[in-house]
Amino acid sequence: MLYLWLKAFHIFFVVAWFAGVFYLPRLFVHHAMSDDRATRERLCIMEGKLYRFITPIMVLALFFGLALLITPAGRGWFTMGWLHVKLLLVAGLVVYHFWCGRLLRGFEQGHNPHPHTWFRWFNEMPVLVLLAIVLLVVLKPF
Ligand code: HEM
Repeated sequence: MLYLWLKAFHIFFVVAWFAGVFYLPRLFVHHAMSDDRATRERLCIMEGKLYRFITPIMVLALFFGLALLITPAGRGWFTMGWLHVKLLLVAGLVVYHFWCGRLLRGFEQGHNPHPHTWFRWFNEMPVLVLLAIVLLVVLKPF
């Protein structure tokens, strides 16, 4: 029962985190395309607020994921290959999250080294990682 409660909250925070992880780089696309100073300033505020909002949500998603693993029902997953690959992908997502924070600080300081096309590709990365993670946790292929 505890396991299912933890899993429900894990999924809730993962979904909330991803709403932000999908939208933040979309804002970067608009930012990189904008020539208007007022628009860029407004985008900076939106990006900063979104980033600060989703950072604790990410921590909670990870916390509930780890909590699942230390319950008696979840301990068995430790030896399974899908979990190891999933944790590797999760580490990549955490790096991606902080990379967004770095790009955000660049925008705040008025310098952005990338064109909007770069951000469009950057935006696709978490989509693919999320798909891979969902396939791993649901199918548990190995
Ligand atoms: C420290 C990081 C994480 C750990 C230790 C972790 C661990 C787990 C565990 C043990 C389960 C339960 C599997 C089951 O009962 O079948 C689970 C479920 C799930 N996890 Fe994670 N997780 C983490 C992060 C993430 C992230 C970042 C995502 C999404 C990108 C994610 C997506 C999911 C989904 C969708 C489920 C539900 C699977 C189902 O009900 O069949 N997890 N996680």
